[in-house]
Amino acid sequence: MTELEQELLAALAQAQEALAGVKDAAGLEEVRARFLGRKGLLPALMAKLGQVPAADKPAVGKTLNSVKQQMQQAFEEKAAFMQKASAVQSALDVTLPGRKRPLGHKHPITQVMDDAVAIFRRMGFIVADGPEVETVWNNFDALNSPQDHPSRTPEDTFYFGLEGDNWLDSETLLLRTHTSSVQIRAMLGKKQPPVRIICPGRCYRRDTPDATHGMSFHQIEGLYVDRNVSLADLKGVMAQYAREMFGNNVKVRLRPHYFPFTEPSVECDASCMICDGVGCRVCKGSGWIELAGAGMVDPAVFRNVGYDPETTTGYAFGMGLERTAMIRYAINDLRLLYDNDLRFLQQF
Ligand code: PHE
Repeated sequence: MTELEQELLAALAQAQEALAGVKDAAGLEEVRARFLGRKGLLPALMAKLGQVPAADKPAVGKTLNSVKQQMQQAFEEKAAFMQKASAVQSALDVTLPGRKRPLGHKHPITQVMDDAVAIFRRMGFIVADGPEVETVWNNFDALNSPQDHPSRTPEDTFYFGLEGDNWLDSETLLLRTHTSSVQIRAMLGKKQPPVRIICPGRCYRRDTPDATHGMSFHQIEGLYVDRNVSLADLKGVMAQYAREMFGNNVKVRLRPHYFPFTEPSVECDASCMICDGVGCRVCKGSGWIELAGAGMVDPAVFRNVGYDPETTTGYAFGMGLERTAMIRYAINDLRLLYDNDLRFLQQF
């Protein structure tokens, strides 16, 4: 091997070593200039070919070509490698904040329900439960609802196995129209007073869905039965509930009303928390928002569950949770609560 060939091979090895140490584009350019540039090592060696004896020229020329090719390839490979590395690096920018996994949370109705349950539990109420499929007796008869009450017709209530007039039969099954049926179950289950329960749950009515009505909705029922229970106790509990749910400035009022299972019956209103009782769109200018139906348990109901109507007193209330959620979160259409559109639900 001629001296020039040895120099060429040494130059190739040097270039490979230099390339291995290259870290950035500027470094690569510097090494390229040093070996392949116009004043670089390889052109300098190539210039020496002229001094090689004619007999050696073919062999030396071959080596020279091969070294040049290998060197160029080494530079190309290094450049390609660096480009790939920088692409990976920009795809994995470790300085960016991590991607958050979307976390689910409670539906606004569930939030309101949980809060209402917590408020009443602090006042000594125990959570009771009952089925959504009920008997006519638990849902209507035992609650002193007359057979000709309009809410009992199949136009207003979902019945199972409807045949002729069997929706008036006590054993016929229906989807409960209110949580008041749980009052009956709680009193029958406890056998004797005192009873102090709340029951949150789903109810069904044959309403045409609109901004304030659905075929299915949620109520929370309350019942306190003991001796010497008065309407003032009811008002106190309602006022405390309203203050905890809507804020300390809320006032509560009772208006005369009618329910078959309470006497006297009242509608319980809270002063509008949006306008502070002045009058606005939410309260339709009245300054008051309907909170619950309520009243003193009718003696006929006590008789139906075997409690002594002479010595037993009690109050009951029932309120809609959709309405509460709508007021609390200023939602103007109840159907939004059931569309399951995440853009809506994520706001709560
Ligand atoms: N059950 C009644 C309703 O659904 C509300 C209510 C409950 C009224 C308890 C009085 C007592 O409208």
